[in-house]
Amino acid sequence: MSKRSNPLPRDAVSLEFTAEQMQHMTDLCARHAIDHVVSLESRPSWNLDGVEEVAASFREPPPDQGTSIEELLPRIEQGAAQTFTTPGPGYLAFIPGGGLFPGALGDYLAGALNRYVGVWNPAPALVQLELTAIDWIRELVGYPAGAQGLLTSGGSLSTLIALVTARRNRLPEHFLDGVVYVSSEVHHCVTKSALLAGFPEEQVRRIEVDERRRMRVGALEKQIEADREHGLRPFLVVSSAGTTNTGAIDPTPEIADLCERHDLWLHVDAAYGGFFRLLPQGRELLPGLERADSLVLDPHKGLFMSYGNGCLLVRDPEALRRAHQSRADYMQDLQRPDGAVNFADISPELSRDFRGLRLWLCFKLLGVAAFRDNLREKLELARWAYEELRATPGFECLDEPQLSVVPFRYVPQHGDVNEFNRRLLQRVNDKRRVFLTSTMLEENFVLRIAVLSFRTHARHVQACVHDVVESARELEEAS
Ligand SMILES: Cc1ncc(COP(=O)(O)O)c(C=O)c1O
Repeated sequence: MSKRSNPLPRDAVSLEFTAEQMQHMTDLCARHAIDHVVSLESRPSWNLDGVEEVAASFREPPPDQGTSIEELLPRIEQGAAQTFTTPGPGYLAFIPGGGLFPGALGDYLAGALNRYVGVWNPAPALVQLELTAIDWIRELVGYPAGAQGLLTSGGSLSTLIALVTARRNRLPEHFLDGVVYVSSEVHHCVTKSALLAGFPEEQVRRIEVDERRRMRVGALEKQIEADREHGLRPFLVVSSAGTTNTGAIDPTPEIADLCERHDLWLHVDAAYGGFFRLLPQGRELLPGLERADSLVLDPHKGLFMSYGNGCLLVRDPEALRRAHQSRADYMQDLQRPDGAVNFADISPELSRDFRGLRLWLCFKLLGVAAFRDNLREKLELARWAYEELRATPGFECLDEPQLSVVPFRYVPQHGDVNEFNRRLLQRVNDKRRVFLTSTMLEENFVLRIAVLSFRTHARHVQACVHDVVESARELEEAS
């Protein structure tokens, strides 16, 4: 070393914790999380009382100095207490999530281990663990062997990646004559993805649906032919395997036949419905998913994982690679061995969390049979609610459940039906045992019971139907 005066920089404030400190903080966080999860059953289905103040308390400047975890946990709890109780058993709104506890442990471990899984070389075994979890999903829903996939933050991002993959594989660089076909019931993330993928809004064709809200294949074919005649380039059809609105299932086999005839990319949005394919009757309930060029599934729906768990499967792995692979000199040391997968080569992300661990841990700890049984229960609970409401005078179910969503309304003896149902929704939710949301079917304001959380069992759906029927009676009496 030289004799020049070149003093070493002083060490920064340590950001490392001692083993005792880590143990202490982890114990407190674990205690907090466990108490919260245990309390879910007895919490109101929603509570936003005074939330503006709590929200305002989080508007604060960056802290220059640290605070103890003891001080921070109550603040986090306060934020969590004033919410829709989305992980609770009474949450029957939109498409419910869940939040399997081992998934949280997976996140904790993944964050603490903090290994780099964006490419293969830095952590081959961990990348393989994630690939295996993805391949389990593929196998369980009956998608062809050899397909490849990735885990994402959810259905929206998976859809965007799928649409860009389709675009880059099926259309030239200048693609503005490309046309995307969806049903009028498609999830809005699909139309949004089409716009984000660069397509003009008028080239996202919304095909009409039948009386059970499934895409009309005849109308689809006519539109494709008309577009071709006008010099446009049809290239992608999206089939919904369980819509958010009512759980409607598009006729994917017929749509797949049509895609074959016209040489179009078939994308299936099975974000909500796809995991019902785990059931013995799943293949009949949701036929044709195996024929999709790309398939979106949301483990944070049908596998009961916490929010932030999506999955995309693509039949031809090279299609994903063609759409995403790019190179840089500074990556030259990370050449992928033959047969290995770099997630960065098949997705938009480079650095990212080790998200496969939570899924792998849940599958390993719980076993697939437990998922299957929970999915069975959800279908049966929806059917039970439908039968109860259908048999109750005044109630009208607009369709029998195709999966686990039950749309219904009450037809009062007098007055405006939509207005009555708006008040009915409010009254049911005001009891705070369950939380429902609504939709419009044509001009009709309709309530929905969406059963998907692993915490929702017969007693909760029974409470829901009770509150709905009682609320309708109370409103009728008051009018
Ligand atoms: C059928 C369907 N597709 C896509 C999505 C979007 O998924 P995410 O909310 O995970 O982005 C949803 C969400 O409810 C959905 O139900």
